Amino acid sequence: NGGVTDTKNLRVKLVLLGDSGVGKSCIVLRFVRGQFDPTSKVTVGASFLSQTIALQDSTTVKFEIWDTAGQERYAALAPLYYRGAAVAVVVYDITNPESFAKAQYWVKELQKHGSPDIVMALVGNKADLHEKREVQFQDGIDYAEKNGMFFIETSAKTADNINQLFEEIAKRLP
Ligand code: GTP
Ligand code: MG
Repeated sequence: NGGVTDTKNLRVKLVLLGDSGVGKSCIVLRFVRGQFDPTSKVTVGASFLSQTIALQDSTTVKFEIWDTAGQERYAALAPLYYRGAAVAVVVYDITNPESFAKAQYWVKELQKHGSPDIVMALVGNKADLHEKREVQFQDGIDYAEKNGMFFIETSAKTADNINQLFEEIAKRLP
């Protein structure tokens, strides 16, 4: 192409799912604004944010992020957000085994009702709270591997692995 660098601009619909309080909104706020809010309010319905990243091969990926509400009363709305999503990020809190069980429920629901070619990531958040850990890293990675998912532990508080999460997802896009 005459030495002109090719650029590819992708647009990706991404949905975050997981129990209330696991840190979905904090992960998005950290990724999009570089901030952490220790007084984060529960999400009502869902919220939308977008962020573009550049990959090394000069591809840009614009993530259109649907941050869903984890409270049980909003569970019936989830299909509105995961339907047609190219990527689903299922989040649990490493200090909370119930949230890990809930993550597995969401994975099964996505396997039944999500797009057949959806890219799924399993995220163990609040990795900074290692002294309160109740879900082992190995349990997360074992479940993710069995289900063909990418796995990572993150901390929205310290920013650990937040950018990596989205970069790894971008690399796995079809
Ligand atoms: P819903 O909107 O109800 O579904 O909850 P959510 O998953 O969006 O949770 P949110 O992001 O609002 O975070 C809930 C609480 O966890 C807040 O008090 C955050 O400050 C805290 N929190 C989120 N991420 C982290 C983290 O990585 N480490 C620690 N220590 N606390 C976190
Ligand atoms: Mg939220």
